[in-house]
Amino acid sequence: MPLPKSLLNQLSLPVVGAPMFLVSSPKLVISQCCSGIIGTFPTLNARPQETLRSWIQEIKEGCLNYQEQHPQSTVAPFGINLVALDSNKRLEHDLNICLEEKVPIIITSMRAPSDISQAIHSYGGIHFHDVINRRHAEKAIEAGVDGLVLVTNGAGGHAGMLNPFAFVKEIRSFFDGIILLAGCLTSGKDILASQILGADLAYIGTRFIATKEANASEMYKNMLVSATAQDIIYTPEFTGVNINILKPSLKKYNINPDTVSPPRYKKPNPLVLAWKHWRLRDIKKWKDLWSAGQGVGNISSILSVADYVDQLEQEYDLARNDYLAL
Ligand SMILES: Cc1cc2nc3c(=O)[nH]c(=O)nc-3n(C[C@H](O)[C@H](O)[C@H](O)COP(=O)(O)O)c2cc1C
Repeated sequence: MPLPKSLLNQLSLPVVGAPMFLVSSPKLVISQCCSGIIGTFPTLNARPQETLRSWIQEIKEGCLNYQEQHPQSTVAPFGINLVALDSNKRLEHDLNICLEEKVPIIITSMRAPSDISQAIHSYGGIHFHDVINRRHAEKAIEAGVDGLVLVTNGAGGHAGMLNPFAFVKEIRSFFDGIILLAGCLTSGKDILASQILGADLAYIGTRFIATKEANASEMYKNMLVSATAQDIIYTPEFTGVNINILKPSLKKYNINPDTVSPPRYKKPNPLVLAWKHWRLRDIKKWKDLWSAGQGVGNISSILSVADYVDQLEQEYDLARNDYLAL
């Protein structure tokens, strides 16, 4: 399905800078939006929870000021990621702030409740939902979402297990809403490839960690530049849920990547989980063990967001000329 004109006209490229725990901040989001792509962050990055409203206001003001100073530029809307689980004690608070502030795009993960969808639509907001399989997608469509983020294998964070060729085509066969493709996208060519597969928006995470504006240490950024896909391990060892982690970040804790659990396909035994939690209690999971997707092998420099988006635009235009003319 083509993107709604109202959204398309606000983008210089069909790209979302994906929300990333600890990494996405107002600085990153403002740079993304002012470069013409959708910038997003997870509410849990704004701590304590009272700071969430000021983060939203900072982003609104940053984008507005930039637009006033650069009237010819395309400034994209921003989005916020909400973990819609009952165990998320902030959910009600964060949702209410997002609704009061009329956040243009809300991306829910885990559960896709229809009441949240209705509330977002009541002020004209757009609702996307993260899914890793068909059952989740069907439930989210039933709940009334506008778009599905298909999180495929190799993605940064809690990646899915499905191949993008299989997943996008299958979901597109019964869903004509907005499809966002997540997993290993780093170049303008990848954006075009996502569209050819049937997606409307490319959802890019890891590549944005290696930008000047990302809230990540220089060591983390440099590790992304030097890593290849072989340096990524997919394991439930640290968070209980399968996640892609940079093997070199395990070294600091003398953890041998060959000894961590293989991916799990079923819910973990709570006793085993509790024991692992206790054993690894001194490790700050996201702060010190760094997540990244398998696209790392295609990251060769730390750029500003504006320079990276310029590069994406040039690559995208080249790819369109090269391939669509065939
Ligand atoms: C460090 C890191 C943190 C992430 N945190 C979140 C998060 O808080 N919420 C979420 O929905 N997705 C999160 N993700 C997943 C991204 O939103 C996105 O789906 C993924 O990065 C896309 O794959 P890519 O990294 O290969 O581009 C995270 C990914 C990374 C790499």
